[in-house]
Amino acid sequence: METEVNNSGAEKSGDTSAMTTISRHNFGDAADEPAFSVSIIENMKEEYGLFVWPCSVVLAEYVWQQRSRFFQASVLELGAGTCLPGLVAAKLGADVTLTDDAGRSEVLDNMRRVCHLNELKCKILGLTWGVWDESMFSLSPTIILGADVLYDNSAFDNLFATVTFLLQNSPGSVFITTYHNRSGHRLIEFLTVKWGLKCVKLLDSFSFMPSHKASALSGNLQLAEIVLNSEAAETLR
Ligand SMILES: C[S@@+](CC[C@H](N)C(=O)[O-])C[C@H]1O[C@@H](n2cnc3c(N)ncnc32)[C@H](O)[C@@H]1O
Repeated sequence: METEVNNSGAEKSGDTSAMTTISRHNFGDAADEPAFSVSIIENMKEEYGLFVWPCSVVLAEYVWQQRSRFFQASVLELGAGTCLPGLVAAKLGADVTLTDDAGRSEVLDNMRRVCHLNELKCKILGLTWGVWDESMFSLSPTIILGADVLYDNSAFDNLFATVTFLLQNSPGSVFITTYHNRSGHRLIEFLTVKWGLKCVKLLDSFSFMPSHKASALSGNLQLAEIVLNSEAAETLR
C-alpha cells in the first residue's frame, strides 16, 4: 500500500477507502518541550475504535499529570480503541492490558500495530462488557481506564457490571473515566448508586487541560474517579 506524508507530518494511506493516518500526541510540562510522544494509527472512515476521541486525549493528559500513580501500576483499559491513555500509562512504567470488544478484530489488530509502532509491550485482550469468559477471572488491575465508554445507554449496565466485577476482584482499585456530559443530568451519580460504587473525584476537563490542548476540544467533557462504595471513606481520608 502506498503511503504519502502530508504537511502536518501525518502519513496518509494511498488507499483512500482505508484513509489511514498517523497522529502524534505530545506529553510534557511545557508545550514546546515534550517529555515523550505517542503515535496513533487512525482510520478516519471508521466511527468507533479506530479514531482518537477527545475523551481519550483528556484521559491521556490526566494519566500524564498523575504520573506518580502509574509507575509499576497494573492498568487495564476498557473500550480502548486506539489506546492513547493506556499507551501513556505504559510509557510511564505501568504494566498495561489494552482491551476492546472481542468481536472487533480490526480494532484489536490496530492495537497491536500501535504498540509495535511505539515500541511498547502491552497485553491485548478481547473483552466485551458484560461477558465473563475465562480470562476475566485472572484480571486484577489497580487502575481501570475508560475513555468515551459512556456513549450508548443500552451498554451502560454491561459496562458497569464489568467495572464492578474488576473493582471487586482487586481491592483498592479505581476506575478513571472521561465522558461527554451531553444531557447535563447526573449520569455518574445514577450509575454509581445503582452499582454500589462511589464517585470520589469529578473534574471538568478544562480545569486541568493545558490551554494548547483545551483549545482543540469542545463540549462538556468530564473526568470521574470511581471506587467501590465500601472503599470510598478510605480513599477520601
Ligand atoms: C467512542 S469509542 C472510544 C474509543 C477510545 N477509548 C477513545 O476514546 O478514543 C468506544 C469504544 O468502546 C468499544 N466498545 C463498544 N461497545 C463495547 C462492548 N460492548 N465491549 C467492549 N468494548 C466496546 C468500541 O469498540 C470503541 O473502541
